[in-house]
Amino acid sequence: MQVDKSEARVRRMFGEIAGRYDFLNHLLSLGIDKYWRWRTVRRVPPVGEAPVLDLCTGTGDLAIAYFKAGGGRTPVVGCDFCHEMLVLGERKRGRIAGGERILLVEGDAQRLPLESDYFQIVSVAFGLRNVTDTDRGLAEMTRVCRPGGKVAVLEFSMPRRQPFRAVYGWYFRNILPRIGQLLSRSRESAYNYLPESVGEFPSGEALAERMRAAGLVDIELCPLTLGIATLYVGTKEK
Ligand SMILES: C[S@@+](CC[C@H](N)C(=O)[O-])C[C@H]1O[C@@H](n2cnc3c(N)ncnc32)[C@H](O)[C@@H]1O
Repeated sequence: MQVDKSEARVRRMFGEIAGRYDFLNHLLSLGIDKYWRWRTVRRVPPVGEAPVLDLCTGTGDLAIAYFKAGGGRTPVVGCDFCHEMLVLGERKRGRIAGGERILLVEGDAQRLPLESDYFQIVSVAFGLRNVTDTDRGLAEMTRVCRPGGKVAVLEFSMPRRQPFRAVYGWYFRNILPRIGQLLSRSRESAYNYLPESVGEFPSGEALAERMRAAGLVDIELCPLTLGIATLYVGTKEK
């Protein structure tokens, strides 16, 4: 049976766990999620003062990482359709110097309320998998990216090499959902949804192909931490 990724369910699920989202993220990944966002910003760095968009920004971690990487001069917009996650993002950006220059907007990744050909980088971390229509999300990311700009997708993937694949797969399917459910008490089973949605989502060359179909070129795949996550980078043609 397919995982329910309807907009209403996804928004409800993240709204429900918003308050514990950051804590569980860092706990369940042993803090490695911060390193993955750091790698994303390093691999696809902002240049000059053209704006950056972070989609499905949640509580804004990648948006904030981009803001810091740009030395506070690069305008950053974070967009998410879950109000509760954005409220926490607002609080976080309020605690960093110049953070009022990070703009957080409520919007659906499939119908972005943003102009075309505008952003130098359009990023998404652990978000595209949750967007109901992946291709629509990729098409919107490409539309708002300026010609020559970059689209960066950071997403979970399954490691290829045994025996790590087997050990990690067991942790990811059995241990992580139990701890996550216990600590989040999610009625929407957010932490059962996590391995289910990762299992269904295209990874590697399959996702690269979807990015090409959205109009991106020169797709680069960068496996992180033995392939637990992968960073995909595409370029919008000039
Ligand atoms: C797993 S969280 C990732 C948050 C953040 N990017 C991070 O790295 O921690 C996924 C986020 O995607 C958002 N999301 C899912 N579908 C969306 C959509 N169609 N439009 C906008 N946001 C969406 C959810 O509300 C949630 O905040």
